[in-house]
Amino acid sequence: MRLEGRVAIITGAASGIGRASAGEFAREGARVVVADINLVGAQETVKQIETAGGVALAVETDVSTPESVQHLVEQTLHSFGRINVLFNNAAIQVNKTVEDTTFEEWNREMGINLGGVFLCSKYSLPHLRNTKGCVINMASVNGFFVEPMCAGYCATKGAIIALTKAMAIDHGKDGIRVNCICPGYIDAGLAWEYFEVQSNPAEARAAAGKLHALGRIGRPEEVARVAVFLASDDASFMTSSSVVVGGGFGTGLPPV
Ligand SMILES: NC(=O)c1ccc[n+]([C@@H]2O[C@H](COP(=O)([O-])OP(=O)(O)OC[C@H]3O[C@@H](n4cnc5c(N)ncnc54)[C@H](O)[C@@H]3O)[C@@H](O)[C@H]2O)c1
Repeated sequence: MRLEGRVAIITGAASGIGRASAGEFAREGARVVVADINLVGAQETVKQIETAGGVALAVETDVSTPESVQHLVEQTLHSFGRINVLFNNAAIQVNKTVEDTTFEEWNREMGINLGGVFLCSKYSLPHLRNTKGCVINMASVNGFFVEPMCAGYCATKGAIIALTKAMAIDHGKDGIRVNCICPGYIDAGLAWEYFEVQSNPAEARAAAGKLHALGRIGRPEEVARVAVFLASDDASFMTSSSVVVGGGFGTGLPPV
């Protein structure tokens, strides 16, 4: 087991890629803290892990609020004594142009997607220094290749790629590795919401597959297994990397 004895906080783990990651981390021997604003979903993730013989804890967390993130860190230390891995996965996606996005929507998206990475990292880093742990940030191929109707979301993902490099530079001397993952379309919550706001959701879903060289969208587990790799000693010389798990998204021109 590649993560035996490690303690991992995974934000946004009540569903989608976060839930799949929590399952994969636990299967590899990690004790997993399932941090999400959706406590019922987080508890279901924990139940699934425990049923499979793993160890996990649900902590209701709003990653955009300092007090909530401090509580998450305290609960993790109280229950498991240390932090080895922080996987900043929680995000929302406002499917609008800049012109149509309200100031409140903009600030909320920035506060959760980018602010959440900042806050969870800020309060975990002192403890990651003790364990020579690592941070994994969830970016997106949208940090490189943008799409219509999600301007703020693309901005946060581009910023997370830059923030990953900045954190890697600042904390490498402490033995802390910081990498980010850039998935293509994955069969999970934020992609589903994006399909729903298109004029024909079923068509949009089929078209999304064609944007990838592999001709399909990805599965949450296909991202989760890369996160396990980045958290493990197999990635011991990897930091500052933006790992694309994109099925070839952006490799060529979209179909006409
Ligand atoms: N699905 C995709 O196609 C895709 C592609 C590239 C990147 N991503 C990224 O993967 C991550 C997970 O996306 P997903 O599709 O699995 O979405 P999802 O909606 O299934 O999961 C997101 C989770 O974040 C939680 N969350 C939202 N606001 C929160 C807050 N303030 N504090 C704590 N938790 C909060 C939600 O409750 C939810 O459980 C996101 O960072 C997303 O940007 C997804």
